[in-house]
Amino acid sequence: MSVTLLGWYDRHAREMPWRVGPQARKAGERPDAYAVWMSEIMLQQTTVATVRDYFRRFIARWPTVRDLAAAEDAEVMAEWAGLGYYARARNLLKCARVVVAEHGGAFPADHAQLLKLPGIGPYTAAAVSSIAFDLPHAVLDGNVERVMARLYDIHTPLPEAKPLLMARAEALTPETRPGDYAQAVMDLGATICTPKSPACGICPWREPCAARIAGTMGELPKKTPKKPKPVRHGTVYLGRRADGAWLLETRPERGLLGGMLGWPGSEWIGTDQPHPESPPPAPGDWEEVAGDVRHTFTHFHLILRVMLAELPHDCTPARGRFYTRAEFGPADLPTVMRKAYDLVQ
Ligand code: ADE
Repeated sequence: MSVTLLGWYDRHAREMPWRVGPQARKAGERPDAYAVWMSEIMLQQTTVATVRDYFRRFIARWPTVRDLAAAEDAEVMAEWAGLGYYARARNLLKCARVVVAEHGGAFPADHAQLLKLPGIGPYTAAAVSSIAFDLPHAVLDGNVERVMARLYDIHTPLPEAKPLLMARAEALTPETRPGDYAQAVMDLGATICTPKSPACGICPWREPCAARIAGTMGELPKKTPKKPKPVRHGTVYLGRRADGAWLLETRPERGLLGGMLGWPGSEWIGTDQPHPESPPPAPGDWEEVAGDVRHTFTHFHLILRVMLAELPHDCTPARGRFYTRAEFGPADLPTVMRKAYDLVQ
C-alpha cells in the first residue's frame, strides 16, 4: 500500500518552502532538520497557507539554529505575533538554545532524544525523525487520523480512537522512504481525503479503502461532541502620547500570551459582570471606545472593553512603558491585542 501512495506523492506532492523539490527528492536528498522542526512547530494548530510566510521570514532572519538561539526573546515573540499559541514560540527559542548548548547545534537524529527537547512532543519527534532523518516513525495529525479512520472504517469517536488510529498508522509506515510516506499521508488528507466531499474517484487508496466500500466516508472520523466554550470579559487600556508612542507591557512569561507584547488591562474573568474592575495603568481622561473586541481562545471566548486616552509626555505609568514609533508596529501584537489597536484607528 505504501508503494502506491509514494508513487502518488512523487507526482502530486505539494510544494512547500521547507520541502526539497522532486528532483532532489529522487536523488535521496533530505530537508534540513532545523527547517523541518520549525515548520512542524508552526503547523501545529495553524494552516499551511498561514505558515508559509511566517516560515520564510523566520528562516530569512535566522537561517540556522545557532542564529535563532542567539536571538533576543522579544524579537522572536514579535516575529511570531499573529500565529497564535504563543507557548510554541517560547519553546522554539528554548529548544534552539538546548540544541546549541547540548547537541553542538545539530538536531539529534533520534526519536527519544528529540522527545526530550523543549516543545517537542510525540507528534513533532515523529515528524522530525521521519521527514528529516528518514526514520520509520508514524505521524498522527488530524489529516492522518481521518485517512486511517476511513481506510479501516473505524467508527470509534475521537479522541478515544487515537490509540487505534496510531496503531494502524504505525503498521502502515514502511522501512523505505518513511519521511516521504509520512508527508504523503498528510498531503492525501489535506487534498483528497478531505473532511467534506472527499475525492474518492482520484484517490490512490480508493481500492483498499473500507469506508469507501461501506459508503461511510462522509461520517468519519466520528467525534465526541465538545463542551461549549465559556465567555470571559476584560478591559484593555490603550494609552497614546502626542509623539505617537504607545503604552504597552510585556505579558508575564507564564499564562496566556506569555512573553508577548500587550495592552495593560484587567484580568480576564468569566462572571456575569461584563467589566471586571481594574485601575488604568496611568492617570488620564480614559474614554470607552465604541464597539468591543471579540476573540476566541482554545478554552474560552473573550470580550474586551477598550479604553483610550491621550497621555501627557511626562506621564510615568504604573505598568508597562512607552514604545516609540520606531520601537513598535501593530504587527508585533498578538491577534487579540491587534484587534484592540485596529478598533481605535
Ligand atoms: N502538516 C504538518 N506537517 C506537514 C507536512 N510536513 N506536510 C504536509 N502537511 C503537514
